[in-house]
Parts: sequence; C-alpha cells; structure tokens
Amino acid sequence: MQYRYLGRSGLLVSRVCLGTMTFGMKDWGCDQKEANGIVSAFVGVGGNFIDTADMYSTGVSEEMLGKAIKDHDRDDLVLATKLWFRMRKGPNAKGLSRKHVVEAAEGSLRRLGTDYIDLYQVHGPDWFTPMEETMRALDDLVRTGKVRYIGCSNYYAWQIVKANAIADQFHTQRFISAQHMYNLVRRDIECEILPACVDQGMGMLCWSPLASGFLSGRYKREEQPPDGSRISYRKDIDIPRYYREGAFDIVDELVAIANETDKSSAQVALAWLLHDHRVTAVIIGPRLVEHATNCLVVGDWGLTDEQYERLSNVCPFKHGYPWEWIEMTYGNIGGGEEFTPPHVHHVMKRG
Ligand SMILES: NC(=O)c1ccc[n+]([C@@H]2O[C@H](COP(=O)([O-])OP(=O)(O)OC[C@H]3O[C@@H](n4cnc5c(N)ncnc54)[C@H](OP(=O)(O)O)[C@@H]3O)[C@@H](O)[C@H]2O)c1
Repeated sequence: MQYRYLGRSGLLVSRVCLGTMTFGMKDWGCDQKEANGIVSAFVGVGGNFIDTADMYSTGVSEEMLGKAIKDHDRDDLVLATKLWFRMRKGPNAKGLSRKHVVEAAEGSLRRLGTDYIDLYQVHGPDWFTPMEETMRALDDLVRTGKVRYIGCSNYYAWQIVKANAIADQFHTQRFISAQHMYNLVRRDIECEILPACVDQGMGMLCWSPLASGFLSGRYKREEQPPDGSRISYRKDIDIPRYYREGAFDIVDELVAIANETDKSSAQVALAWLLHDHRVTAVIIGPRLVEHATNCLVVGDWGLTDEQYERLSNVCPFKHGYPWEWIEMTYGNIGGGEEFTPPHVHHVMKRG
C-alpha cells in the first residue's frame, strides 16, 4: 500500500480509502460480519484511511465501523466522518450551525466508540449559516482534541476558497481536503474544484470512483441493470447520473485495458483516478470482502501514461467556458518564457 500526504498537511493516508456507506445499508449493503471482514482485509494490506458519515444508515454505519475497528489499533487508523444531514427531527438537527456541529461531533464519537475523529468533514454547504460560525465551531473541536483535521465535501470551488480565507482571517483551522464525486463518467470537478484544491493546498478524496459500480463492467448496453445490483436499487439516482452518452464506450476501453493488463475493469477505473496526483485517495465502496480485496490492488498498482491517455480520450471532457477562451487565447499573451513555473501547471494542464 502506498500513502500520500493529505493536502498540505503532514497526515499520511493510504491512497485507497475504505468507504463504509454499504455498512448496514438495506438492499445494497452488508452486515456486521461482512463489515468486520472488509475492515480486516483493508487493514491487513496496510490501509489506514476509513471514511464514514453520521447519516449513513442513520448512524448504523458509524456504529458498525466502531465495532469493526475494535480488533485493530485505533491510533494506526485515520478515521474520517461527516456531518450536515438531518439526523433527527427538530429545527437545529441539521446543517452547519455551531449548535449542530458540536452535537453531531459528539454523536459520531459515541457511535464510533473513539475519543477523536481524525478528519471531520462538512458533508455539504449550508447556505444559511455564516461560514465564520462553522469554521470557528470546527476549530473549537480541534482545539478541544475531539478532531484532528477538517475537510469539506460537495462544496463549490468558491465556497472552498472562501472558507479557507475566513479561516486565515481568524487564524483557525483550514480545510485540508475536499471529498467530491469523481470517476471516468463524471469529471465535473476538473473544471473548478480540482484547480481550487491545488490552489488551496487541499487533497481530493474521490467518492463513487466506480460510478456506483457502473465502471466494473457489470452493466450492459440497452439492458436493464441486473437484479440485485446497486444501480437496480437506485435507478432514480444512478441512471440519470451515469447512463450518459459515451459511458458504455468508456466501459469498453476499460475492459480492453483490463484484458491487456490482467486486471479487472474496476481496478483500471480506480487506477485512472490515482494517476492524477491532484487526487489523494479513491474512496472504495465494497459490499463484499471480495470487492475490497479486488479494489485494494490499486494501493500500489498503476496505469502507464499511454493507458491513462487512452481512457481520458474515449470521451474527452469539455471544460466549457471560460476554459475554452483561456486555452484559445493564452498562447497569445506569452512572451518567450523559459519554463512554466510548477505553481501554474494545474491551470493549463491536467495532472
Ligand atoms: N461525500 C459524499 O457525498 C459521498 C457520496 C457517496 C459516497 N461517499 C463515500 O464514498 C464511498 C464510495 O462510494 P460508492 O459506494 O458510491 O463507490 P463506488 O465504487 O462508485 O460504487 C460501489 C459499488 O460498486 C460495486 N463494487 C464495489 N467494488 C467492486 C469491485 N471490486 N468489483 C465490482 N463491483 C464493485 C458494488 O455494487 P454492487 O452491490 O452492485 O456489487 C458497490 O456498492 C462511500 O462508501 C462513502 O464513504 C461519499
């Protein structure tokens, strides 16, 4: 297993992060026995980074994870969880107010059966609470030892930059990571979020790296999702999200590279994400021990540049405006510079 620094922090995390949204999930999830096996398989190959959230199965994922880590050394693990969703009735039982931030953290600590959370992430933006209030409340959790680092998820780029600017203004903790949907079919974050994270010295943790399993090759053109598959249970969400023009062409190329490399399509899809060093870790979402074992291979296996480009170009991602305008005109303002300084690489190039 290889490790990467999480953003501009000193925290080393395995480049495969174990996602636990399946733990306790009805229909497409797993029970405690399977969860214990998944955690053991993950830790057994050196995985140290585990992600959950208070809302996954309304607290059950955190409880199951808490039980599963009892057999392992807590201090060797980097436990990440999230807050934001509503966990119970009541006007303040949601969002990112100081009141809810503190209540949510205490609930997560209790369910996980631990004294501290390594990475506490806001699960989404709260349009109504001033960011100053949220950033201060998160900072208090760090100062009182309940949390080590803070991160965000599903934020717009401007919100990421604004939150960190507020943190700088108040000399409080900055976000060190973002957690966003990123996979070969949905590359939206390449436009604004990834460049913002590079600028802010933040790591990127990719959720749904297999597009809910679509990139495993299990789903076929012009066929309904097979019974019992994850997408068969979440048609309303996943079909509009992933059954897009060109998506099955991407799967064809994944299968071709999988055959050439003697790997699975899922492994190739995960390796494509990790080839870009702006990505810190892929958050895998195993339902079975066998899934975890399969995904863990990418902890220290990667694609060649040629394979990476082939996959990137099946369905070239259109960055839209203003990217197009910048690409078209930027060359005209150059003046014979000798080299491109590293801090601007992310502006014009991927990776
Ligand atoms: N921050 C956020 O808003 C957010 C949102 C979503 C997820 N997450 C995090 O990201 C993690 C991963 O997300 P995800 O579950 O959507 O990931 P994913 O990797 O895109 O999809 C996981 C699904 O793919 C299938 N699968 C998993 N491993 C496989 C393998 N090796 N071979 C073939 N099929 C495989 C399983 O479906 P079948 O049951 O059909 O086999 C599984 O349910 C979550 O656990 C959670 O921690 C965060």
